[in-house]
Amino acid sequence: MMTKKIAVLPGDGIGPEIVAEAVKVLEKLGTEGLDISLEYGLIGGAAYDETGTPLPEATLTLSKQADAILLGAVGGYKWESLDISVRPEKGLLGIRSELNLFANLRPAILYPQLAGASTLKADVVAGLDLMIVRELTGGIYFGQPRGIRTLENGEKEGFNTLVYRESEINRIGKVAFDIAGKRQGRVCSVDKANVLESTELWRETMTELAKDYSDVELSHMYVDNAAMQLVRAPKQFDVMVTTNMFGDILSDCASMLTGSIGMLPSASLDENSKGMYEPIHGSAPDIAGQNIANPLATILSAAMMLRYTLDEAEMADRIENAVSKVLDDGLRTVDIYSDGTTKVSTSEMGDAVVAAL
Ligand code: IPM
Ligand code: MG
Repeated sequence: MMTKKIAVLPGDGIGPEIVAEAVKVLEKLGTEGLDISLEYGLIGGAAYDETGTPLPEATLTLSKQADAILLGAVGGYKWESLDISVRPEKGLLGIRSELNLFANLRPAILYPQLAGASTLKADVVAGLDLMIVRELTGGIYFGQPRGIRTLENGEKEGFNTLVYRESEINRIGKVAFDIAGKRQGRVCSVDKANVLESTELWRETMTELAKDYSDVELSHMYVDNAAMQLVRAPKQFDVMVTTNMFGDILSDCASMLTGSIGMLPSASLDENSKGMYEPIHGSAPDIAGQNIANPLATILSAAMMLRYTLDEAEMADRIENAVSKVLDDGLRTVDIYSDGTTKVSTSEMGDAVVAAL
């Protein structure tokens, strides 16, 4: 087997701390037959400080050459007043777009050990296993025209464009239907077709596509109702497929069902299942550098990398089982801590997962 090259982009805030723990896990598997090499790159505010841009050419080249990318998080107070074109978030959006990572998979799985950590009643979330498939390189995040202009009366106006082409809807739809075929066979497409033409087309295209998938059942839901249903009865969902911005919002909402946003990994895939793997949470500048952040979302993102890009399902299982084991052992970072469990730091959590492997 050829050595697989992983681009590691720690980013800002808690990014470097949580990525270090996922790297520990990958390196441990490296001593047991996983043939990978890691190469580090700058992204986000860290890249801006060093090079004046949140996505340096070197990082883009490294990421294009790599088989997979492991990313921490970007952003922080320090860079909030920068022009939007060089803000850390632009680095993340840029790499998603440049690498054509249009399919963002955000699983929300409740570990039974954490049923009590959710703000929702345990019976509402017990057994939750849902997959949000978010379109990641189109929609209002990227639509043109966009900007802030000054009107004739001197008033300023901000504007963005929500646009989706049939081909973009089809390719994300296919990803969702394929995944549903390997799960419970149900796709719920989330839109705002009662108001927005772009998502009226989304609904029509999904309906047409469903005809190719006789084993999958398609339903549609307006996004406002979907937000409500997620907190009312989340177990009704198997796979949800939706636009870039709706997926951004609904996946944060879904994360809370699992107890903590610190638990949710994600994969962003291109047409050939090359992928970037990152926790869905942000850079949490308020707790950066304190060794208290939860590294499990990033460790679970590494597991997704093994499963989806590196074809190492067995090693992915091992990581996921190890995470389950440390939770069984009662280890908790502060975000998932409750009475009767043991509070651990970021690095202690990472060490425990390595030990449990
Ligand atoms: C996410 C984040 C990003 C997004 C930000 C940091 C640009 O919220 O990955 O969900 O909006 O996509
Ligand atoms: Mg988000």
